[in-house]
Formats: sequence, C-alpha cells, structure tokens
Amino acid sequence: IKRIGILTSGGDSPGMNAAIRAVTKVGLNSGLEVFGIYNGYKGMVEGYIEPLTRESIGEIVTRGGTILGSARLPEFKDIEVREKAIRQLRKRGIEAVVVIGGDGSYRGALELTHMGINCIGLPGTIDNDITCTDYTIGFQTALETIVDAVDKLRDTSNSHHRCSIVEVMGNRCGDLALWAGVACGADIVVTSDTGFDEQDILDRLRDLDMIKKKKHAIVIISEKITDVHQFAKKVTLNTGFSGRATVLGHIQRGGSPCPFDRMLASQMGEKAVDLLMQGIGGQCVAIRQNKIVSYPIEKALVMPSESKKPLTNLFERLS
Ligand code: F6P
Repeated sequence: IKRIGILTSGGDSPGMNAAIRAVTKVGLNSGLEVFGIYNGYKGMVEGYIEPLTRESIGEIVTRGGTILGSARLPEFKDIEVREKAIRQLRKRGIEAVVVIGGDGSYRGALELTHMGINCIGLPGTIDNDITCTDYTIGFQTALETIVDAVDKLRDTSNSHHRCSIVEVMGNRCGDLALWAGVACGADIVVTSDTGFDEQDILDRLRDLDMIKKKKHAIVIISEKITDVHQFAKKVTLNTGFSGRATVLGHIQRGGSPCPFDRMLASQMGEKAVDLLMQGIGGQCVAIRQNKIVSYPIEKALVMPSESKKPLTNLFERLS
C-alpha cells in the first residue's frame, strides 16, 4: 500500500495525538503517505482530508485532545453513507485507515474493511470499556485527573466533617470509579457492577461516622447511576456527615497525556501501521499482559469483560 488515512472518532481522550503522531511518523518512515481525516467519519464522508507531514504533527505528543477533531456519526451505519465515504477515500488513493476511538468506531472500521478498505482500530477512550485490551489510550491520564481531584476533596471534606460524593465518567464501565476508589482510599465505590443500594450506603456512612469515628467520607460513583446532588441531600439528612456532590465531568477528558498513555499510543500506532503494511484489516490493537497484540474486531466486540483484572476484591479487602 502507498497511502493510509487516520481519524479520531467518538469522545476524545488524552493520548490520541500521540497515536496520530506515531502512525504518521512510522508511516512516513516506512515510505507511506499519511492523510489526516478530520472530525471522524463525518470528515471522511465530507472529504475533509489532508496530508499529514512531520510539521503538522510537530509537538503534539504532549497535547491533550485530538488535532484531527472528533465527532459521533450514527448515520455511518447506513451503507449509502459509507459508500460516499469510500468514494472520498478512493478519489485520493487512500487504501487503508487507522481508526482511533471506542467500540462504536470499531464497528464502522469493520464495515469499511468488509467494503474493501482495510481498517485497524486503536482503543482511544478514557472509559477503559473495550474488553479485549487491559488499557485504553487515555484511561490512565483520566485516572490521574480523578485522583488529583479526589485528593483535594478529601482535604476540605476532612476539615468540615463532610461526605464527598464524586461522580466520574465511564459510560457504564466501572473501571475509572473502581481504580480511583483504590488509589484514593475511597470508602465506597458505586458502579453498574456493584449496583446502587441507597439505604445500604446510608447505613454504611452512618457506621463510618458513629462507630468508626471517621472525620470525612468519600464515595465515588460512576456516571449514569443516580443523581448525585439528590443523593448528597439524603446523606445530609440521614447521616452525621453533610453531603456535597462533585461531578468531575469533561475535566476528565482533557489534559496532557501521562507517560503511560504516550507510550501506549506510540506502541499501538506502530502496530497499526505494521498490520496495514502486511495487508491486514478488520483488527484492533490491544495491550494484554504487557504485550501489544491485535484481535479481529468481531471477536473483540464480544469478549467478556471478566478478562479484565478484577480489582473489586482488593477494594473490599482495603475497606
Ligand atoms: O466515552 C467517553 C465519554 O467521556 C463517557 O465517559 C461519557 O459518558 C461520554 O463520553 C460523554 O459524551 P459527550 O462528550 O458527548 O458529552
């Protein structure tokens, strides 16, 4: 192959730029021409596609977000929309594409591969919700952001005998909440796996206050589970702590990627180019037990999440 494209799709994540840089540099150094496809699949359909050079990717390894922009395009599941996208690629002689995004983006990559454009997926999301990989690009940076915020909340909660209820992202995957729970020494973690038993949590908080005599409490809750502001009011009414809710929101998606995410993105970008140069498509890159590997996207999309290292037991044993 001679020309490849690269796009970022879905919610952005710190480290996407490092992946763009790696794909571009490894591609150029392997004699390929590399094209940036802007705003995800939307830019592919609209033909917003431009060559990437060493200059255009200069100094981006340290930057959060994605220089290519990102978007969600549900219409990409329609074959007519994908056919339009493929015409745009063919017009420019682009034979293969690296897609950085979450599982929705992987589905588009698989469909394009079936239609003759080899695609390789890289896991770019803070959620760590792609089950075939131990880590997604951006997860560790988001975790650092959360840990930093919760450490600060701990200080002020301690001064005021408060319970801090912190809502974190994750899109129905509890990894950010659970990992932050262990790393911050939270008292309670609520995810879609643990379920939300409000009465039980209020009882446990009363116990922390009256029996264990704790000066503050920290509860970390995954998004989309409950209204944390309402819950904070119930904490104030039903326990000895006054409750305060903090929704960390999109802060978790920004910031300079941590070294781990830069490394992961660079190694995965290299692997993606190597696969495409071997004529392979329809695969996604993963890290498993410290090795960069790849899986067919079909298989990756249905891998059970038990394959992730369970931290739930450790959290319980640290309580
Ligand atoms: O997938 C990344 C993510 O940040 C999720 O954690 C969150 O549920 C969602 O995206 C938020 O989407 P948006 O940026 O469109 O509000």
